[in-house]
Amino acid sequence: MPLMEPYRIKVVEPIPVTTRAVREKALERAGHNLFNLSADEVTIDLLTDSGTGALSAAQQAAAALGDESYAGARSYHRFRAVVDELTAYPHVFPVHQGRAAERILFSALLEPGQITISNTHFDTTRANSELAGCEARDLPCPEMKDLESDEPFKGNIDLVALEAALTGPDADRIGIVIMTITNNGGGGQPVSMANLEAASRLCRRHAVPFFLDAGRFAENAWLVTQREPGYENSSPREVAKAAFRLADGCLASLKKDGIANIGGLLALRDDDVARRCELILTATEGFRTYGGLAGRDLEMLAQGLIEVTDPHYLRARADAAAHLAELVNTAGVGTVRPPGIHGVYLNAGRLLPHIPPERFPGHALACALYIEGGIRSVELGSLFLGEVDSDGRLRTPAPYELLRLALPRRVYTQSHLEYVAEIVAAVAKRAESVPGYRLVTVPPILRHFNATLEPITPLT
Ligand code: F0G
Repeated sequence: MPLMEPYRIKVVEPIPVTTRAVREKALERAGHNLFNLSADEVTIDLLTDSGTGALSAAQQAAAALGDESYAGARSYHRFRAVVDELTAYPHVFPVHQGRAAERILFSALLEPGQITISNTHFDTTRANSELAGCEARDLPCPEMKDLESDEPFKGNIDLVALEAALTGPDADRIGIVIMTITNNGGGGQPVSMANLEAASRLCRRHAVPFFLDAGRFAENAWLVTQREPGYENSSPREVAKAAFRLADGCLASLKKDGIANIGGLLALRDDDVARRCELILTATEGFRTYGGLAGRDLEMLAQGLIEVTDPHYLRARADAAAHLAELVNTAGVGTVRPPGIHGVYLNAGRLLPHIPPERFPGHALACALYIEGGIRSVELGSLFLGEVDSDGRLRTPAPYELLRLALPRRVYTQSHLEYVAEIVAAVAKRAESVPGYRLVTVPPILRHFNATLEPITPLT
């Protein structure tokens, strides 16, 4: 079928169209950090796919039915019924977003000194592990090392390394294994059902809790139906249900595959851990039937969690990401391959070889895309993931210098993405003129949100 969005547009919002001079000034004022821009200064906002999706008419209608009772609201029961059908976990807690679920679960389950293991921890997951006094270890599969190879499941965990950890000298300290589906920190790549099954078996054998970080559970399920032998005749919902049933529970940011602007989920099997989670939830988020959300949010989430596994929607979304990846590849810009769904990850390190990691090529590319065409994206390279001294000098670079073009759900059309590809191509043509950056102010934590930088010319 030719590419086509399986929905039509009912409500529109104008896009800010700006001039290069205005953008140059805005970037200067923002300390060359795209997080400091006002959204009115951005033409195409690909900073994140989180909380940025477009609501359906059915979600808006459901919102009008929101029951705002403090306890036992009708909207909670509707949310609960959808989550029960999808996950079958006996304990279900709504939370305001994914990182709240991380904080609550880790405080309830983990002791300081323990280890959390993941295919790749998302940054808030790592931060919450460390705030709980634990050590976060990533065990991405070896296939991920080759960014541009077409291995189908580069989001997998390294099973050999996982087994070694579970039987090694630190085995007693492992408090949880978390599989991030899809693997956002690992190029948005999917995890196979075979990998989930094997990891689940290993954890069960060694009595270690096995959880999913399931923010993009439907997108992972879609890629399984497309890439994993034996699942070609399954629906994405069937695959998603099977994945949840392999785990002891899940954490999820529902700002992604809940297709809502706010919301999260913590769901699990263990009664004792659930009791402890409920206490922390009530003290810090809200009563167990709303967890910091309004009744109307729960309604929109319940409806979003139904819509998100529609195969036509998922196919269109995967096609859009693949189309954008193909256009930028044709323009000579490498991407993490094969294309995932929620974002296209550009290989900035390869495009800008004249900019060394200590001059942040991913960030340089992000600034260049903004100046060229008002596109906002996010660096996933040494600025975000490297180790930096307090004086701004890079001590350890990130393994890759990437830039993520995240794709909000149901927001941008094919022609918007073609515009993005043209801007990427224009920057690629003058790649050698893109300057590197130096850190000016360096906050001690959450550096990429708050740092300010300046371009370095002449190029060094
Ligand atoms: N886990 C994963 C895999 C995520 O991608 C995110 C958020 C979270 C947890 C935290 O959820 O934002 O609802 O608190 N990712 C966003 C992103 C912010 O842009 O990738 P949250």
